[in-house]
Amino acid sequence: MLNKLPSFPGIAGPVVVIVMDGYGIPKTEVGSAIAAARKPTLDALFAKYAHISLRAHGTAVGMPSDDDMGNSEVGHNAIGAGQVYAQGAALVAGAIASGAIWQGQAWQQIVAGAKAGANGKSGVLHFIGLFSDGNVHSHIDHLKALVLRARDEGLRAVRIHALLDGRDVPETSALDYLEPFEAFLGDLAAAGFDAQIASGGGRQVITMDRYDANWKMVEQGWHTHVLGRGEQFASASEAVRALRQRLPGTIDQDLPPFVIARDGAPVGTIEDGDAVVFYNFRGDRAIEITRAFEEGAEFDKFDRVRTPAVTYAGMLQYDGDLKLPKRFLVDPPAIRDTMSEWFSKSGVAQFACSETQKFGHVTYFWNGNRSSKFAGETWQEVPSDVVPFEQRPWMKAAEITDAMIAAIQSGQYKVLRCNYANGDMVGHSGHFRAATMAIEAVDLALSRLLPAIDAAGGVALITADHGNADEMFELDKKTKQPALNPDGSYKAKTAHTLNPVPLVLYDNVSGGKLGLKALEGAGLSNIAATVANLIGFEKHEAWDESLLSTSQAD
Ligand code: 3PG
Ligand code: CO
Repeated sequence: MLNKLPSFPGIAGPVVVIVMDGYGIPKTEVGSAIAAARKPTLDALFAKYAHISLRAHGTAVGMPSDDDMGNSEVGHNAIGAGQVYAQGAALVAGAIASGAIWQGQAWQQIVAGAKAGANGKSGVLHFIGLFSDGNVHSHIDHLKALVLRARDEGLRAVRIHALLDGRDVPETSALDYLEPFEAFLGDLAAAGFDAQIASGGGRQVITMDRYDANWKMVEQGWHTHVLGRGEQFASASEAVRALRQRLPGTIDQDLPPFVIARDGAPVGTIEDGDAVVFYNFRGDRAIEITRAFEEGAEFDKFDRVRTPAVTYAGMLQYDGDLKLPKRFLVDPPAIRDTMSEWFSKSGVAQFACSETQKFGHVTYFWNGNRSSKFAGETWQEVPSDVVPFEQRPWMKAAEITDAMIAAIQSGQYKVLRCNYANGDMVGHSGHFRAATMAIEAVDLALSRLLPAIDAAGGVALITADHGNADEMFELDKKTKQPALNPDGSYKAKTAHTLNPVPLVLYDNVSGGKLGLKALEGAGLSNIAATVANLIGFEKHEAWDESLLSTSQAD
């Protein structure tokens, strides 16, 4: 149980933590869908209530460097755990640099599995994953290291199944990664190692679904990578060129699947005796394909047609509760002492809500990558639409608000949390107008939610996990002004930003006694202690400092 604060009993009503996903504070209003949105509620919040900005990227959230943007995994981990852990990106890079990854049992089993093969023939090692240097789910340098090590281990062949990004990196950058990589594989092949790209497709079309939102994507991925079914091309770069020409305006994440073939035969279907490494380190979009590889006859999400007997590993373990996958190359961060756990141990009833696309963010990521609840937690998922979100920028903001208001009015919960996905999910589409509407939908939602908090005698902390809608145009690296396409239009930016995020204390109950301290270097990991103080508890010793000032205490 957490200790009671000596000087402040906590507020009488509930504390509501509202995460506006993808809502950063931009350096310039040019290209900011947030600045362009009509948002009277948010404007009033910033005009009338205590607010500070928080670091939400780079080392402040456990990424390897301050050049790394934030993302929802590391952001929600930091908020939920109140501490910063070295995250997957850093852990994998470290394990490769030290060589520890190759000494691990999992890698050795992968090598042994491929060498043993089946039916008297050695197997092929397949690498499936997101093909970019975004460092959100994966990094292409990790893939390169895996390929080189496979060669050094004396494996017969490797095949790569490349999921095109355009979401954590510029929207049409696939060839910037594919062409050098094909040259790299070409050099290996010239030196006698059989290494080829075998299949691929846009990450929003195949394989990388999350939170059971659309298993069809995973089914299509299985058909592409495992069965080798789909439109054939001579190389991945040729596929990208041809598909772009056929589908003008389609950005990388949305490109259709493709299969690389010679003389009509796919070069890399997945067969008995092969080994497979899913090389993404982040879990949300890795879990479904992992289940398709690992589960037996009980698997009922789609018809796999054929289930090759392979040695399978993930880069990390994606879910510590479900032990998914069983075999993994690098240990995930051991996230302990989250606020959910300690509030639960302190008898505090908690409520979490989002729509499918971000549901795992406020539950599984928030609780340190655990898929099970702590005692006294209630989780409510609002099903997301299965559409490109630029077509429905309001998403389920209204329904999440309904659920939050009902939970507040029930009087059952002391700490509530929700995530509005709009700024992020629509921001990732690169559609400026839709992104302004996304922010407007969040504004409207807040205009309903905040009065319900007032009525219950509560306060809200309004924040974000990282930026996105705050920069909808690529900025020129030198001038920091929006970059232009050849036709003079702005270059759309689909990725997150490096910008800080707001933290607003919405408080109509303390009569001005509560405020926020602008601690030097404060980041998302300072929120847990702040919530604890608001409900009258001291922070857990592992948590970063609270940002709450109370007139009694200060
Ligand atoms: C995604 O998975 O959609 C992006 O790579 C990252 O977005 P998120 O971190 O906001 O989920
Ligand atoms: Co995002």
